[in-house]
Amino acid sequence: MKLLICAILAYLIGSFPTAYIVGKVFFHKNIFNYGSGNVGTTNAYRVFGPYAGTGVLVVDILKGTLGALMPVFFGLDHHWILFIGIFAVIGHVFSIFLKFRGGKAVATSAGILLAYNPLLFAICFICLATIVYVTSMVSVASLTTVLFFAIASIFLHDWILTTAAVIVTIIVYVRHIPNIKRLIKGKENLVPIGLAYKR
Ligand code: G3P
Repeated sequence: MKLLICAILAYLIGSFPTAYIVGKVFFHKNIFNYGSGNVGTTNAYRVFGPYAGTGVLVVDILKGTLGALMPVFFGLDHHWILFIGIFAVIGHVFSIFLKFRGGKAVATSAGILLAYNPLLFAICFICLATIVYVTSMVSVASLTTVLFFAIASIFLHDWILTTAAVIVTIIVYVRHIPNIKRLIKGKENLVPIGLAYKR
């Protein structure tokens, strides 16, 4: 019963549509209609600027962390963190507040990792930031980092982490299919940051 409550709460926390709300409240714009149309950190940064993008990043990471920590608040074993955290990611991707539309799962998945293994989170974050700096393409950084996360989890011999990493990797790759198509055509959107972006 406690697990079910945790899963529902994590889903609702993950459903909080940060980028959508930031767009509506501070910029009077519907983020679905701008940039890549994605309800996430990258598009908020692209459309509304660095402060909005950073704010969305922080809140979306914390959604994953808070959702994942529900089992701890309910006195359940630490190992349920990842399982329940996946429900926060599902909420972010299929938000009940956005008619089951949502983001691409990267920041909220990072939040789960922050709750479970802060050191691996920091390593993945540095990996992602470095690739963004070099390519100016968050999609490339996201796809590479999530794969790195899955491979790293295998070396840690933690099958719960590996299972969660595989699930997250599948969700992230499926959500990035439009990005992968644009990358193949050489038409992926850049973010105004890093070396590849020409000002
Ligand atoms: O985390 C999402 C990012 O990898 C891609 O976002 O807006 O360029 O599709 P976007």
